Amino acid sequence: MTSAQADGGQWVNPLRTPDDKRLPRIAGPSGMVIFGVTGDLAKRKLLPAVYDLANRGLLPAGFTLVGFGRRDWSKQDFEDYVRTSVENGSRTRFNENVWNRLAEGMHFVKGAFDDDEAFERLASLMSEMDTTRGTAGNWAFYLSVPPEHFSSVVHQLDRCGMAAPRERQWRRIIIEKPFGHDLASAHELNEVVNQVFPEHAVFRIDHYLGKETVQNIMALRFANQLFEPIWNANYIDHVQITMAEDIGLGGRAGYYDGIGAARDVIQNHLIQLLALVAMEEPASFSPRQLKAEKLKVLRATSPVEPFDQTTARGQYAAGWQGSERVVGLREEQGFDPNSLTETYAACTLRVNTRRWAGVPFYLRTGKRLGRRVTEIALVLKRPPYQPFQEGQTDLLTNNAVVLRIQPDEGVLMRFGSKVPGSTMEVRDVNMDFSYTEAFTEQSPEAYERLILDALLDESSLFPTNQEVERSWEILDPILNYWSQHGRPDEYPAGTWGPDSANRMLEANRHVWRRP
Ligand code: BG6
Repeated sequence: MTSAQADGGQWVNPLRTPDDKRLPRIAGPSGMVIFGVTGDLAKRKLLPAVYDLANRGLLPAGFTLVGFGRRDWSKQDFEDYVRTSVENGSRTRFNENVWNRLAEGMHFVKGAFDDDEAFERLASLMSEMDTTRGTAGNWAFYLSVPPEHFSSVVHQLDRCGMAAPRERQWRRIIIEKPFGHDLASAHELNEVVNQVFPEHAVFRIDHYLGKETVQNIMALRFANQLFEPIWNANYIDHVQITMAEDIGLGGRAGYYDGIGAARDVIQNHLIQLLALVAMEEPASFSPRQLKAEKLKVLRATSPVEPFDQTTARGQYAAGWQGSERVVGLREEQGFDPNSLTETYAACTLRVNTRRWAGVPFYLRTGKRLGRRVTEIALVLKRPPYQPFQEGQTDLLTNNAVVLRIQPDEGVLMRFGSKVPGSTMEVRDVNMDFSYTEAFTEQSPEAYERLILDALLDESSLFPTNQEVERSWEILDPILNYWSQHGRPDEYPAGTWGPDSANRMLEANRHVWRRP
């Protein structure tokens, strides 16, 4: 064991001071095995996040990181790989001492998912680490692999006894999306995982829930008296949830072709945002209470028909992204020129509760759109009576509360104000809260928060199997309809999606915001 010790299961950190706010948030003795460690996500997000946690003093001194993959790598090769990814992707400054301590606990196990011997080697490495580095039998397995491999990895972990903790130990599994491609496949995956890991040991990642601004939805709603009274169908006319990206799909064909924008983003990130915006107040933020409220509101949520009028999908064609000329999806390397995969998806959902009856929730996402922005806009109704003369309110639109998830994280309120002058002319103005102006602390990356939460057994920010399945149930009818009706419309790269998306809102006399 190192300077820090496991004392009857209680973690004793030698550096702690009584007023250190990090105290309850320092992970106890543990290690993590990453499957898919050579993949893009691990390189860009997971490995830098592990380093950032170590750098912030939130990992135990003996933390051990094991990579599992097919490359013929030595310990040193793995360290070099992680170091490059950390140097390129970490949020916090590189610190040689922190790195050296973390690198001591890095190991690589070479193997494929059907290689029994490799998993046996992994099991014996873990036992060795339990004694030499004090990981104490506490392990998280991070599956950053395509879903077709979930089953083999889970069975191997089971077969080698790695999934079953002894007394006072824990074993947890962290699973990356996509979690299925429809309700039936998600259900099957859940069964495979739950046969080996009990639900309390399963941490399904939806990285949007790890974002500070997403957690702020709950702070804004439930720590204030200002918003909740208007947060309902009496005042809100409709809600727009947008996740727009300016990037295209170059290099991601393997993952994206055949999946598309609705499965990639609406099923998980956007439906989770809807749940947080629309749910009732939980009695506390305990995982049980919070998840119960989310599930309840998802059970009340359904897609609005007819889908030819209430949904839209598109595929980007060549166009201009800023000053750069970019190719269309079908010219992207790896995509079938006849691909029907949508890169833009929009749909209309309703939430059948007293709070939200009659309020459309419009969800949209797309690649190669005008700019990168994620926001939730609650657009309010017009006042029932306006004692102004004709023309005085021509520049006044509906009031709005806009939760800006990223970038320019913050909250914006749009309302009318008198224009200085001798007439009662009113027009829109914005009141703007910006995270970067209000706080000096930089927000942690979503993956830092989520990896740490999984090590701490804090599951509030991880969707349950029921939430995942319910989200598919909401989306499946739309996907089925699309699969039987033609192909996605085209939209030029750099624009805000296909015309059908605008028509979808026009029917209700609404317009999409141009963020
Ligand atoms: C992922 C999607 O879940 O989220 C990607 O698979 C998308 O297609 C990414 O690019 C966007 O994440 P963020 O945090 O940059 O908004």
